[in-house]
Parts: sequence; C-alpha cells; structure tokens
Amino acid sequence: MDKQQKINEFNGKIKRVIIAEEEIKTAIKKAGKQISDSYDGRPILLVSILKGAFVFMADLCRAIEVPCEIGFMCAQSYFSGTQSSGVVQITKDLDQDISGYHVVIVEDIIDTGRTLNEIVKILKARNPLSLRVVTLLDKPSRRVVEFNPDLALFTIPDFFVIGYGLDCSELYRNLPYIAEYAE
Ligand code: IMP
Ligand code: MG
Repeated sequence: MDKQQKINEFNGKIKRVIIAEEEIKTAIKKAGKQISDSYDGRPILLVSILKGAFVFMADLCRAIEVPCEIGFMCAQSYFSGTQSSGVVQITKDLDQDISGYHVVIVEDIIDTGRTLNEIVKILKARNPLSLRVVTLLDKPSRRVVEFNPDLALFTIPDFFVIGYGLDCSELYRNLPYIAEYAE
C-alpha cells in the first residue's frame, strides 16, 4: 500500500463529525468555570485517566482558574479495535498521596462504567478530602455497572467514537473533533 492509500484508508474510517472543535471548546470553558467556582480556592488534584483523557485534561486544566495540581493514572480495558475486554487493568498508578486533596477524576468517556467504577473504588480507599468525576462524553445506554459522573460535557448515543484523545486501535487520538468511527 502506498502513502496515499494509507491516508485514504485512515480518512475513510472517519464517518462523520459528531462534536465539532468549537463546541468542545465552549463546553470546556463552561466546565472549567463550574469547577473553579465549586472548589472556591481549596486544593484540587486533577487526575487524568490515560491515554484517552490526555487531550481533555490539557484543555480542561487551562480552563480552571484556581490553583490545581495534576496527576495521571493509566487504565486499560480496550485491548483491540472497538471491543472491550471487560477486565480493567491499572498499568500506571498515581505517584502522589491524595489524602490532602479534593480529587477530580478527568475521563474521556464512560461506556460500560467498569473503568471508573474500579478507579473510584481504588481512590476512595486512599481517603481524599472529596472525589468527583468529570467526563467529556457519556454513553449511558451502554452501562453494565451503575455509574453516574458528577459532570458530563456531552451525552451521546451508542456510537463508537474517535478523536480528541479517543482511539481505535491507538489511531485517531490526534483528530481535533469527535467523530463516529466507520466500523
Ligand atoms: P468503560 O470501562 O466501558 O466505561 O470504558 C471506558 C474506556 O473505554 C474509556 O476510557 C475509553 O478509553 C474506552 N472507550 C469506550 N467507548 C469508547 C469509544 O466509543 N471510543 C473510544 N474509546 C472508547
Ligand atoms: Mg479512557
């Protein structure tokens, strides 16, 4: 396959844009303000779940106007393509003690709910001052485990989506918008 065929194949899987770059920007600005207002100067630690939430984290933290620290955890539940394995693995843990912080988990998407259910359990056991969850996308129709985020920027139907950090087999994270993947 030559270079152009590879590019055509890549682009061919982007079915349609479902959330444009500008819409994401506007929603993040609003969420940043909401988060800044609700903590009122208290110490917050934003914990991003890698890899998918790295783009959202980068934009959300810059929309927050109160002092905040950042941390990363890596959880894997998707091992290939669009199918979830159902098993959540923590492959990188936080390197800070969270007991003195109001923790805000920053996630890309809640699908079955398994990943966050597991992470929330683990982090609660470490006694943070408080624990909240903000997600860019929520697919409530796909839940297997009951889980409700404190803040979801967009609720979407049962599509497999790519872009803005979200991948399909590690590709498409670099798209600046959210698109439906052509299966
Ligand atoms: P859950 O554990 O099923 O809630 O899934 C959470 C993780 O699966 C997310 O953090 C994503 O990394 C991945 N995931 C779920 N749905 C999608 C999707 O539509 N596109 C890309 N990744 C997804
Ligand atoms: Mg993720």
